[in-house]
Amino acid sequence: MSDVGELSGEVALVTGGSRGIGRAIARSLAEAGATVVVVARNGDAAAEVAGALPGEGHLGMACDVSDAQAVVDVVRRIADEAGPVSLLVNNAGITRDNLLLRMKEDDWDAVMSVNLKGAYNTVKAVTKGMMKARSGVVINITSVVGLMGNAGQANYAASKAGLVGFTKSVARELASRGIRCNAIAPGYIRTDMTADLGDGATDSLQASIPMGRLGEPEDIAGVVRFLAGPSARYITGQVLAVDGGMVM
Ligand code: NAI
Repeated sequence: MSDVGELSGEVALVTGGSRGIGRAIARSLAEAGATVVVVARNGDAAAEVAGALPGEGHLGMACDVSDAQAVVDVVRRIADEAGPVSLLVNNAGITRDNLLLRMKEDDWDAVMSVNLKGAYNTVKAVTKGMMKARSGVVINITSVVGLMGNAGQANYAASKAGLVGFTKSVARELASRGIRCNAIAPGYIRTDMTADLGDGATDSLQASIPMGRLGEPEDIAGVVRFLAGPSARYITGQVLAVDGGMVM
C-alpha cells in the first residue's frame, strides 16, 4: 500500500479487473494509493495484473461474480489478507448479442447473472463491513446502451438499465450510513469487448460520437478515481456518462 495519494488506506475490490477497462481502473486506484484486489474468472490473469500494479500489497483472486457463495468467500478472504473492502467497483460484464427473436434464454440468463446479479452479490457481501465503518464507496459500470437501448443487445441493455435502478436504490438506502453509490455509463471504449466491430462499424460509430473518437479504458479509469475520492464526497445516486458526448 502506498502512504501517499487520496485513496491511501482504502481497500478496493475491482471485479473483472484482468483486462480492458477493469485493468485500467485497477491501475488508477493503485496510483491513487489504494490497496487493490483484482478479481476475475481467471485467477492467474487477475494475479498477474495485481502483481504489475504500482505500490505493494495488491492481490489477484479468482471469482465468478454470478456465484453468490464465491463472492462471500472472496470478500472474507480479502478482509483477512488486506482488510475490509472500502471501495467496490462492479466492472465485470459480458455480452451475448443477438436479435431478440434469435436470442436464447441462456443468453438472457447469462448476461443478467453476471452484469446485474453479480453487482447485487458483491454489494450485498461488502455492505455489512461498510456499514460498520460508516463509510464506503460503490461504483457500478453500466453503459450508454442501458440509457439508449441498442438493437441486438436487449439482454445487455436491460442488465445495464437494471444497474441504474440498482445504483439509485442502493444510494438511497445507504446514504445515511456514509456509503455512496454511483454509476458510470461508458460509451464505446476500445477493449477486447469492442475489438470485433470491424472497420466499417467503427467508422460509422465514430461519426455518431460528437468528440469523434472511441474512448480509451483510461478515460473511464480517471472518472472512477474521481468518484472514489474525497472530491466526490457529496455525490451519490448519479449516473455519469463518459462517452464523448453520445448521450446528452
Ligand atoms: P472485457 O470483456 O475486456 O473485460 C471484462 C472483464 O470481466 C474480464 O476481466 C472478465 O474476466 C471479467 N468477467 C466476465 N465475466 C465475469 C464473471 N462472471 N466474474 C468475474 N469476472 C468476470 O470488457 P471491457 O470492455 O473492459 O468492459 C468492462 C465493463 O465495462 C463491462 O461491464 C462492460 O459491460 C462495460 N462497458 C464496456 C464498454 C466498451 O465499449 N468496452 C462500453 C460500456 C460499458
